[in-house]
Amino acid sequence: MRKTIVAGNWKMNGTSESIRTLLDGIKAGVPAVDGLVTLVCPPAVYLYQVKKQIGDAPVAVGAQNVSAQPKGAFTGEWSLEMLQDLGCEYVILGHSERRSLFGETDADVADKVAATLAAGLIPILCVGETLAQRDAGETLALVAAQVDAVVQRIGIECFASVVIAYEPVWAIGTGLTATPEQAQEVHAAIRAQLAGSDAKIADKLSILYGGSMNAGNAAELLAQQDIDGGLIGGASLKADEFLTICAAAAESRK
Ligand code: 13P
Repeated sequence: MRKTIVAGNWKMNGTSESIRTLLDGIKAGVPAVDGLVTLVCPPAVYLYQVKKQIGDAPVAVGAQNVSAQPKGAFTGEWSLEMLQDLGCEYVILGHSERRSLFGETDADVADKVAATLAAGLIPILCVGETLAQRDAGETLALVAAQVDAVVQRIGIECFASVVIAYEPVWAIGTGLTATPEQAQEVHAAIRAQLAGSDAKIADKLSILYGGSMNAGNAAELLAQQDIDGGLIGGASLKADEFLTICAAAAESRK
């Protein structure tokens, strides 16, 4: 059975104090279930604090971005070696906010995925269409191209270690959620695309949904055959809501 992953993307939110409180709340109720990964991705400046506070709790830590460069004169960036040093296991890459606000291209994202894998961390590769692209009927082709950019750069084998997050841009932070059917359609298409090259790898790949997932809609989304978890923004900033999603994910594995 594939891994189920519930990842909180805290984006650029929190202070050391609010993050301590949030994490205390998560630690108090996080389920310890085989095959379920609970992951928090704080702002990079709080990674050290968060990793320390987690202690032995079954919570993994991820970063929201990383440089593909190993080190040097890249003011404002951080490296994979630094993330390793802090005990980070995952890195979110190609988030739509990175693509639209910071100009990251498919090629940049593919470089970061390659560097992350080479460092032994797990990339969470984000893909997804805008509303205009969905309305134009381009969703499946666009998402396929975003996935293919990584296949072309690194090869299909990398998807034995990569996690994909399908995040329709129109659903991020808007309160609009893809219906379970809309999400399932894209998830199944991604899996079929990769199965065309390697059925085993495609079958084992975890594909997360992101975009206004919350305590109220998580169970329905997670019940879909090809939805293997969630990448959660707003709802991951409230411990009880995040834990409800984790519980729904645990339930979805039964
Ligand atoms: P929201 O859950 O706030 O819509 O954000 C989703 C997201 O972008 C997670 O990476």
